[in-house]
Amino acid sequence: PKEAEAMKYVEQITRELAHLYCYEEVITPVVESYDLLAAKSGEEIRKRMYAFDDLGGRRVALRPEFTASMARLIATKMMNEPKPIRLYCCGSLYRYDEPQYLRYREFWQSNYELIGSNKPEADAEILILTYDLLKRLGLRNYWFKIGHVGIIRGVLSQEGVAEEKQNQIMQLLDNKRWDEALTAVKESGVSQTATTTLKKVLETKGKDVSRVLKEAKRVVSDYYSALGAVENLQNILDLVEESDVEFETLVEAGFARGLEYYTGMVFQPYVPELEREVGGGGRYDKLIELFGGEPTPAVGVAHGVDRLVLAMERQKVSTKVKAERRVMIIPIGEEMRAKAMELSLMLRNVNMPVEVEVTGRTVSKALQDADRRSVTHTVIVGAEELKADKVVLRDMKNRVQRIVKIENLSDEIMEAKT
Ligand code: HAM
Repeated sequence: PKEAEAMKYVEQITRELAHLYCYEEVITPVVESYDLLAAKSGEEIRKRMYAFDDLGGRRVALRPEFTASMARLIATKMMNEPKPIRLYCCGSLYRYDEPQYLRYREFWQSNYELIGSNKPEADAEILILTYDLLKRLGLRNYWFKIGHVGIIRGVLSQEGVAEEKQNQIMQLLDNKRWDEALTAVKESGVSQTATTTLKKVLETKGKDVSRVLKEAKRVVSDYYSALGAVENLQNILDLVEESDVEFETLVEAGFARGLEYYTGMVFQPYVPELEREVGGGGRYDKLIELFGGEPTPAVGVAHGVDRLVLAMERQKVSTKVKAERRVMIIPIGEEMRAKAMELSLMLRNVNMPVEVEVTGRTVSKALQDADRRSVTHTVIVGAEELKADKVVLRDMKNRVQRIVKIENLSDEIMEAKT
């Protein structure tokens, strides 16, 4: 129950955030066509999908992420809706990851997609929303790793490297296999200038954002689309900074994420207590088109709910849904059982969490039990008081009790200090 409560608490905050930023919730299927989920997801995710043939002989898989399903939804059902469209979903995902710390085969994400804008303010909104979520969860010292896949892809494209080969290089970079990535670059037949440029791109990183971006511009100055990518990243980061949002940023010019559909800014938020990122996102301007929709730019992010819970536990942040009042009704003797049930319904009707003592324990045993369950108030129902339509109300924290009229019971509990 404690783990479920923590997961649900985080989910609740992500849903409130969706409400505050005007993202509408959608529910996508757990089982989808394999081809749909595999398109542009990248080798890493493709080989980790729980894929199988269903009884109709169709190749299907358990969803490893939400973005493909959301893009398909836009392409097939929402193409005529006015843009931008903001969508949110939260639920379980499945990846056959090696069982290891912080990697589960079933995990939850909260996912936000902003569809229909190619402007930096859309990218900035996704970054700000992520920052806002971490803040609302009560986390501290979080920081963001940010890059732009257009920097490396821009260099490779200008050198005529085929997309397949680019994907392979990006995957190696995502797995931090930098030497192998550089070997793959050399093998792809690019110029010496390109190899030197890419090597320098990988070294261009740091927390001094303006210095790193200036350096990145210098490094890729021969490659116009890579240069455009750095400028785009600068516009996004300027917007975030000017909105008075503060978080530490590590800019990495050579930062790549495993998913193949990214076309622009990419990022991952971290907290120091966890070795892996707590979320990931970026811009993907070609995916909706791939599913048969009109060319539609989009940017989004997914946060790992399991990892956020762990981060909160590590930082000793409460993951409890704060139920301020919790009542236990204790009947004295069998004759009072029905009255206890009746009173519990009365209190639940005013949205008060109530449990009825159902094991036939004595009052003193029941009170001991109530203490263990963080019950704030107990209502003891006895024949004597009931004759005058009254019950005993006990404040568990202050250990005081008094007799109250049943008609005033809910008000008395509601008004009591906790
Ligand atoms: P992703 O980086 O694959 O991106 O996953 C996002 C987050 O899900 C990760 O940062 C991590 O917190 C959590 N996560 C992923 N795999 C696992 C696992 N095996 N166990 C626990 N947590 C995990 C995406 O899925 C993209 N669809 C994000 C996106 C949305 N990009 C644009 N829109």
